[in-house]
Amino acid sequence: MTDFDSRAMRDACGSFATGVTVITTNSDEGDHGMTANAFMSVSLDPPLISISLDRNARMLGRIRASGRYAVNVLAEDMEALAWHFAGRHNPEMVGVLEQRDGLPVVPGAAAVFLTEVAQEVEAGDHTLFIGRVTGLSRRPDAAPLLFCSGKFHRLPS
Ligand SMILES: Cc1cc2nc3c(=O)[nH]c(=O)nc-3n(C[C@H](O)[C@H](O)[C@H](O)COP(=O)(O)O)c2cc1C
Repeated sequence: MTDFDSRAMRDACGSFATGVTVITTNSDEGDHGMTANAFMSVSLDPPLISISLDRNARMLGRIRASGRYAVNVLAEDMEALAWHFAGRHNPEMVGVLEQRDGLPVVPGAAAVFLTEVAQEVEAGDHTLFIGRVTGLSRRPDAAPLLFCSGKFHRLPS
């Protein structure tokens, strides 16, 4: 028993300011991207990162099928992309992904991690995918897009 509801849990989690990523993968069904802020660095040696996917996300089956995914850290001018890959389809964004080492990635992202799934962990209504990083890139000049309390933000310039 708890003395709070899932709205209170969600709001409290929303107090934690994060960056914003687009998870990407490909399968027989083609390239797929999904906006996610549940991203965490896990280990440097070996290099591991993790993401957390809602059990209803289509991305879940796509990653299971491919065994690989990329995490694209969005730059501050990529809010429209974040909405597009969060289910608000934008026709102007179709075909925006480019290919790198066999995975679709977001061109111009602040950072990109290419991974192979190392571990899948069922956790309540979400599934964690721990990925072993097989390649990465970074744009040191790029400021990150931020997310806090349900809204996108930028760092003060
Ligand atoms: C800022 C933001 C962060 C999100 N973070 C996550 C997340 O970490 N995990 C998740 O499962 N969904 C997250 N979502 C929701 C998914 O992006 C959304 O449900 C998406 O449409 C699922 O795509 P799919 O079912 O086509 O794979 C987030 C949405 C937004 C706008």
